Amino acid sequence: MTEKKIPVILDGDPGHDDAIAWVVAASDPRFDIRAITTVAGNQTLAKVTYNARRIATLLKLDCEVAAGREVPMCADLIIAPNYHGESGLDGPRLPEPKMPESELSAVELMAKVLRESEEKVVIIATGPQTNVGALLVSHPELKEKIALISTMGGGLRNGNWTTSAEFNILVDPESAYIEYHSGAPLQMCGLDVTEKAQIFPEEWEKIRAIGNPVARTVAEWLDFFFIHLKELGWEGATLHDPCAVLSLIYPEVFDIRDYYVDIDLCGRYTRGATVPDYTGVSGQKPNCKAVMGLDRERFVEILAECCRKFDGWEEF
Ligand code: BDR
Ligand code: CA
Repeated sequence: MTEKKIPVILDGDPGHDDAIAWVVAASDPRFDIRAITTVAGNQTLAKVTYNARRIATLLKLDCEVAAGREVPMCADLIIAPNYHGESGLDGPRLPEPKMPESELSAVELMAKVLRESEEKVVIIATGPQTNVGALLVSHPELKEKIALISTMGGGLRNGNWTTSAEFNILVDPESAYIEYHSGAPLQMCGLDVTEKAQIFPEEWEKIRAIGNPVARTVAEWLDFFFIHLKELGWEGATLHDPCAVLSLIYPEVFDIRDYYVDIDLCGRYTRGATVPDYTGVSGQKPNCKAVMGLDRERFVEILAECCRKFDGWEEF
């Protein structure tokens, strides 16, 4: 009997680590990628949507690619060219997109996929939570079709854009608030795990040496992504977004715990913080599975295994 695939929507703002997350998703036959949706974050919506179409072409994905909103729900957009460059995905040359942008908006495409799917669908959201928040508000009836929202965002102990807030949540805290209060099943890969999910330069040299065009592109994305991280003192590149994919299919590699987590919207210094209730003092039941740690060496091995799946692919 063939194993049932997991239907997924990839929602993100590629972005080097989003792109690597999508390589991982495309490499694993357990995933059935039903749609790609984009959200403004690492760069403007037009840039990340163009990048998403180029990545989908590189990976030979034949799903629709739809653009989301140009701005967060309430806040002004913040972008991250310091990490991802002017294009949002600086570094290696990529193929030009073969598919057009969908005529549907991101939320319309997400809703269509959920409505038409016989099974519940996993949304892997690796950018600001703008599309997911808008989906939950505009289509509450589809919440029951969501198997899980697997997010990269937040950090229970620290931030990275401010002391308290991680970039994806800080860009659109209101959408994250809606998500965390929606009752939809939620898994959170915050900085607690993703800053431990580092790959070191000698390790991505081994990925480059795999030699196929996708593995080589992953290594070149890491070359670029590491430039700013190295300036900040990191010894490796932090693979934030791939955690939101790999924690789904390799849960044994991760340390996953149930917590009640709230989103701070109005703190003078702490807006966008993901605030955990460690002690149960809030009296609230857990609203998410928070991924707190991982077996880093196994994680890097799995990434290399994913890259090897593209052996035999022709140069683009
Ligand atoms: C998150 O911010 C973005 O720059 C990355 O793509 C990742 O999703 C890490 O804070
Ligand atoms: Ca991202």
